[in-house]
Amino acid sequence: MSKILVIGAGGQLGTELTKALSDKYGKDSVLATDFQEAAKAKFDYCAFQTLNVMDKASLASIVSKEGVTQIYHLAAILSALGEKNPVQAWDLNMGGLLNVLEVARDHQIEKVFWPSSIAVFGPNSDKDQTPQRAFKDPNTVYGISKLAGEHWCEYYFNKYGVDVRSLRYPGLIGYKSLAGGGTTDYAVDIYHKAVNGENFTCFLSEHTYLPMMYMDDAIKATLDLMDAPKENISIRTSYNLSGMSFSPKEIHQSLLPFYPNFEIDYQPDFRQQIADSWPNSINDEAAKKDWNWQPAFDLNAMTATIVNNLPQYFNYNESK
Ligand code: SER
Repeated sequence: MSKILVIGAGGQLGTELTKALSDKYGKDSVLATDFQEAAKAKFDYCAFQTLNVMDKASLASIVSKEGVTQIYHLAAILSALGEKNPVQAWDLNMGGLLNVLEVARDHQIEKVFWPSSIAVFGPNSDKDQTPQRAFKDPNTVYGISKLAGEHWCEYYFNKYGVDVRSLRYPGLIGYKSLAGGGTTDYAVDIYHKAVNGENFTCFLSEHTYLPMMYMDDAIKATLDLMDAPKENISIRTSYNLSGMSFSPKEIHQSLLPFYPNFEIDYQPDFRQQIADSWPNSINDEAAKKDWNWQPAFDLNAMTATIVNNLPQYFNYNESK
């Protein structure tokens, strides 16, 4: 039986991925961990333990005691927060990954998942349909850590046979969990404002295109990648992954049929420069070829789904 350890389970992706893993493999097969004890409240359906991934001895002890066979390591400091705390972001993003890779090697873990990002690309990468092997000059600490991390993953696969797999996620958008510390977070926050009857101030300018993805597609891509036969995985750094691309103006327009009075104003801040250094759109033909990747959601389908589900999901009277 698989025993799956999720590290950083309380985050935006972890909240939904842990549930999907539990639905797929059974709740007794999943152990959610997060460095914040408060995250426990999210996991009434599976086991939870507090774990700081920087504590390698505790990580190794959990892996031994629980008989862990797979690790999904999601804990990281994202792009915008990373620029405010560069050394801390580097320490966590690199130190955490190296602890996971070392423990995976020492304990013969069957499979490891680690997320990379569109942030591996930089101002001189191709902007449109950015290819898998595009020139990369990331200029955020987050992007530098993800690019270095990709090469560490490939190194542990080549040198030690650790079966670590990775996706370069675009901005992830869902309604079941909040984003935090990223440059693409505006595309999550905007739905909460619209649904709540408030207007929205956007920290990016109206024509800033970025690659994005609805959370259900991201979960599907992750499960499909991890299910794929080992011999199909031709990319051991991280796969380009594409869902949709849009600007703040376009997401606003997608909301107007539901909320005709919803207004947006633009006050770009330091995150504009980060967004400007990233691609507009991504070429993911390798993912399509190797493990049949196909996204299901475009912008309008995503907006309709979120608008129809978000109000029931969050209790606005309590959270206000
Ligand atoms: N969503 C991330 C961020 O904005 C990119 O991977 O930092």
